[in-house]
Amino acid sequence: MKVFIKTYGCQMNERDSEAIGALFVKAGHTLCDSEYDADVLLFNTCSVRDAAERKAKGKIGFMRKLKLKKPDLIIGVTGCMAQRLGDQLLAELPHLDFVLGTGQIHKALETTEKIAADRRKIADTAVDPGEIDMLGEHGKNSWSAQIAITRGCNRFCSYCIVPYVRGREVSRSQESILSEARQLVDQGVKEILLLGQNVAAYGLNGDIRPPADGFSPFAELLEALNKIPGLARIRYTSPYVSYFNDRLISALASCKKVCHNIHLPLQSGSDRILQAMNRQYTAQSYREKVAQLRAAVPDLTFSTDVIVGFPGEEESDFALTRELMNEVGFEQAYIFKYSPRPGAKSALLADTVSEEEKLRRNNILLDDLEKRISARLAGLTGTVQEVLCEGVSARNEARWTGRTDTNFVVHFEPDDKVKTGDLRQVKITRSGSVSLFGELI
Ligand code: SAH
Ligand code: SF4
Ligand code: F3S
Repeated sequence: MKVFIKTYGCQMNERDSEAIGALFVKAGHTLCDSEYDADVLLFNTCSVRDAAERKAKGKIGFMRKLKLKKPDLIIGVTGCMAQRLGDQLLAELPHLDFVLGTGQIHKALETTEKIAADRRKIADTAVDPGEIDMLGEHGKNSWSAQIAITRGCNRFCSYCIVPYVRGREVSRSQESILSEARQLVDQGVKEILLLGQNVAAYGLNGDIRPPADGFSPFAELLEALNKIPGLARIRYTSPYVSYFNDRLISALASCKKVCHNIHLPLQSGSDRILQAMNRQYTAQSYREKVAQLRAAVPDLTFSTDVIVGFPGEEESDFALTRELMNEVGFEQAYIFKYSPRPGAKSALLADTVSEEEKLRRNNILLDDLEKRISARLAGLTGTVQEVLCEGVSARNEARWTGRTDTNFVVHFEPDDKVKTGDLRQVKITRSGSVSLFGELI
C-alpha cells in the first residue's frame, strides 16, 4: 500500500509520524508525498489551539471527495485531536475509517491492515503506557535525528490541553535512549534533538517538584550522550525554567556537544498572569535563571513561547511581557494568541481579550522581535562561525545552508568537498532579516 502521512503540531508529533511511517515501510509498504497517489491517508493531529483542530478537520473533510472516487481508500486520524475527540470524529467525518489516540498510535499499521481486510471502523483512545519504547523506529538516514525521551506532561498549565491528550509524564530508560542514539550515530547522524513536553524533567518519575540542587537525571543523560564518539551536536526541547538547577547548568557548561541555545518558554512577563496560568515561576526568577545560565555559558542564545490575551491580561500585564522579552533579548520567539481549550482549566474563565486586541499585542511583539533579530544578526558580520552543513538551501540552489550551535541559520557557497553533516568554519560576510550569509574558510 502507498501511505500518505500529514503531520500537524509540534516536533513530538513529527517524531511520531516518522516512527509510524517507518513501521509501514518495515512491513513492505511505501510512503508517498501526495494524497492523490495514496491508498492510506494518515492525519497525525494537534489540539493545542482551536486553529490547529480546525485546520486538520478542514483538510480531512476535503478528502471526502477523494474517498467517493476511491472507495478502498483508508483514512485514519491519530494524535492529540484523535485523543481529545475519539469516536466523535467518526460521527463528524463519516468517511473516516479509524481514530487512534496518542496511546495507540503504535497500532496504526495493524489497524490499517485490519481495516483493509474487513472494512470495520475503529476508534481507540485507550491509554497504553507500554508504547513508550515501541516508537523507536526512524525513517531514512539523515544527518539529524530526533529522540523522544519523555512522553506526556504532568504540569497542567491552566491553558494547556497537552496533559489531557498526551497523558501522564513517563521517561524512557537511559539505556534505551543511549542505544537508540548510538545506532543513529552509526548510521551517520551528527545531531540529535531530544524531545519531551517538559524535557528537563527527564527521569523524575512524574514528580512535579523540580529536583533539588545537585540532582538532575537530565544532566546525567546529556553527559552520557556527550561521550558518544561521532556525535557532533545535542539539542533538546522544551525545558521548563525551574528545572535548571546547579547540576544541570554545570552539565550544559561542560558538555561540549550540547548546543548553546535554549528554547525556554516564558508565556508571560506578568506574575499575576503567570500565576493564573499555573506557571511555577515569577518574572524575576525567570530573569535570574537566564542570568545564571548566561554566566555559565556566555554565548548562549534563547528562544521562547509567549501567549498574548490570556483571560484577564490587561495592557499593563502585556507591557511587562514586552519589557521582559526585550530585556532578555530572545533571538527567537513564537507568539500565540490565547485560545480556550475545552477541558483545560482556563477555559472556565471568560476569554476577556478581543481577537483584535490579541492580534494587536501579537503584532507588537513580532515587530520588536524582527528588529531585535536583524540587529543581532548584523552584529555577527565579520565573525567566524562553526556551522553544521545541512545541504542545498531551499531558497537558492546555488547555496548551501547550515546552522551555528547557537541556532543561527547561515547560507554559503559550497566547495567541492562539502558534505551534509560536516562541521565547517564560515566567515560571516553579511546578514539578512532572519539569517546570515558567509564564505567557507
Ligand atoms: N511543552 C511545551 C509547550 C507545548 S505547547 C512547553 O511547556 O514548553 C507549545 C506552546 O503553545 C506553549 O508553550 C504555549 O505558548 C502555546 N499554547 C499552549 N496552549 C495554548 C493555548 N490554549 N492558547 C494559545 N497558546 C497555547
Ligand atoms: Fe502544556 Fe505546561 Fe505541559 Fe508545556 S509544561 S505541555 S505548556 S502543561
Ligand atoms: Fe499539539 Fe499534541 Fe504537540 S496538542 S503541540 S501535537 S503534544
